[in-house]
Amino acid sequence: MNRLSIGPQLRTTSVLVVHLLLLLYSTGQSKLIGSSQPIVATVGDDIILPCHLEPAVDVAAMTLEWSTTDQDPRFVFVLRAGQELVNTKHPSYKGRTSLFTDERKHGNISLKLSKVKPADEGKYQCYVPKLNEASLVELVVGAAASPVISLTGIDGDKGGVVLQCKSKGWYPEPELLWLDAEGKILSAGPTETVRGPDDLYTVSSRVTVEKSNNIICRVQQRNINQTRETQIHVP
Ligand SMILES: *[C@@H]1O[C@H](CO)[C@@H](O)[C@H](O)[C@H]1NC(C)=O
Ligand SMILES: *[C@@H]1O[C@H](CO)[C@@H](O)[C@H](O)[C@H]1NC(C)=O
Repeated sequence: MNRLSIGPQLRTTSVLVVHLLLLLYSTGQSKLIGSSQPIVATVGDDIILPCHLEPAVDVAAMTLEWSTTDQDPRFVFVLRAGQELVNTKHPSYKGRTSLFTDERKHGNISLKLSKVKPADEGKYQCYVPKLNEASLVELVVGAAASPVISLTGIDGDKGGVVLQCKSKGWYPEPELLWLDAEGKILSAGPTETVRGPDDLYTVSSRVTVEKSNNIICRVQQRNINQTRETQIHVP
């Protein structure tokens, strides 16, 4: 008799628990997910800085903010009442940032950044004030370009030829090496480095070659994992 009367009670309790769980789930806090890995971009590229809510929440009508952590003014994109607040954003990002309109109802507030510049490098934060949720994405910027070798003269004293290697359009600053056909590093003049108004580096160096050989000029930047080389045959 006792057992029979417990049955409905248990059922009522479990229905209550399920209701509670559903309630917790539906009001449960969504998390903003950025990227744990840095986003590596090449100068001039159009890229996406990822950021989305999990579980997805329709944020089409919410205020959405993207800012940098190390520039002033810090905003790179602010959307309020469906309109971009153009006046609050950093002038360097004018006309270069946008969200994906159709993605916002799926909780995706990834930022499109066009024509990446070296100065864009740094950390970015996506933020949804209404949910009090924020996440960070790091942007690493790089640029690489092939070197050009030219014959600049004859070294009469040593009886060799003087080669110059020049490579324009690097970021960050690369290193330049001269190598022979066996991959041995040659001793060369100092590397001259010039930083242009676009923040890109030009490096150049000279070497005197005394024997017939295949000579390689290699320019590399480890942080962005880029190497470019050019070979010349000295008769
Ligand atoms: C968010 O939208 C962008 C642009 O359409 C897309 O590349 C990205 O994969 C989307 N992210 C998610 C989590 O759906
Ligand atoms: C660097 O680039 C090479 C070739 O593109 C690749 O095999 C290697 O995994 C990269 N290393 C890193 C640390 O990204």
